[in-house]
Amino acid sequence: MKIGVVKEVKEFERRVALTPDVVKQLLKKEYTVLIETGAGAGSYFSDQDYLDAGAQMVSKSEVLASDIILKVNPMTLEEVAEVREGISCISFLYAYTHPELIKAFLQKKITAIAMDAVPRISRAQKMDALSSQANLAGYKSVILGANYLGKIFPLMMTASGTITPAKVLIFGAGVAGLQAIATAKRLGAIVEVSDVRPETKEQVESLGGRFLTVEGAEAVKVEGGYAAEVSADFLAKQKKLIEDKIKDADLVITTALVMGKKSPILVTEEMVKSMKTGSVIVDMAVESGGNCEISEINKTVVKHGVTLVGESNLPSLLPVNASQLYATNISTLLLHLSTKDSLNLDLDEEITRGSVITHDGILIHEFTKKILNH
Ligand code: NAI
Repeated sequence: MKIGVVKEVKEFERRVALTPDVVKQLLKKEYTVLIETGAGAGSYFSDQDYLDAGAQMVSKSEVLASDIILKVNPMTLEEVAEVREGISCISFLYAYTHPELIKAFLQKKITAIAMDAVPRISRAQKMDALSSQANLAGYKSVILGANYLGKIFPLMMTASGTITPAKVLIFGAGVAGLQAIATAKRLGAIVEVSDVRPETKEQVESLGGRFLTVEGAEAVKVEGGYAAEVSADFLAKQKKLIEDKIKDADLVITTALVMGKKSPILVTEEMVKSMKTGSVIVDMAVESGGNCEISEINKTVVKHGVTLVGESNLPSLLPVNASQLYATNISTLLLHLSTKDSLNLDLDEEITRGSVITHDGILIHEFTKKILNH
């Protein structure tokens, strides 16, 4: 079976779906691997690296003639138009945000498999690209934030005076948030954290962060590892707490996510106004609407004296590691769903059922069906 990797076409995307090391592993399992010329350049993998690994370097149209196409970002409508009927594609998809693309997949009987829909269960950890990428993004959010801040993070006692540590406030202690806490702590900051799931308190504290408990609010339900919609009562009480804390923060990192919903607004314009001049907000949730009312997607802007970073593709700023981890995730899923000869979908199996969106002209993914009212 032919596995094809195209060069990503999304603006500013530097990742690639397979790295030379992972190509070698697939060749050992007797898959044929075709890579578009230049596909790895953004991640510093040359065509020669892929050739040395045993891949065939070919044109985009030859890659699109493969049986299974592996990508980081969803196929474009132009790519869908070019492939033959009935092929498969594995990529990040966020299917519920792309109704047009789903329609095109159904018309062309494409089997679309979404990396973002792989269930967060222990058996699927090696396929969990959302986590591998969010982890790197959490790290990078702190590094970016630190870069914009006119201060250092650690306590420094010098002959010229004592510098007090920077204060970092983090919203959301999921994968990205926990890595952000660890990174900010390593750099010497004082870190405070708010999350709606009380069970994250222990994890935050184990990394040296201070957990901000929202007193008197009802507990939030968790579904499939994600926070279910948060009540208005909780958000109101949390807002009060944030108003007090944000005035002192040097760097705010927001990662609050409610799966399948617009991100909750946690930092209002009024709160930004109350912050110190020169402080920084990195809004990691900017792609799903943002946790900060006035951050702008893919822009860094200064408003009310505060630098607002709205970078929607932080993993792409660490393309080497991001591609390495993604390649492991996607190849593990590929091996789970196929043999060297064909795709083998057992839709009664949890990982398969969770990640296959369309197959044979039918939208089979329950969550996507529900959101798209299909
Ligand atoms: P996650 O689901 O592991 O963590 C999200 C956390 O937010 C959960 O712990 C949840 O309980 C918490 N949360 C929900 N509502 C909250 C509220 N009102 N206040 C405080 N906490 C709240 O998600 P993950 O993987 O850590 O991703 C976090 C965010 O970062 C997502 O929005 C994701 O899309 C985004 N992200 C952005 C990237 C970028 O390049 N900008 C890259 C990777 C992820």
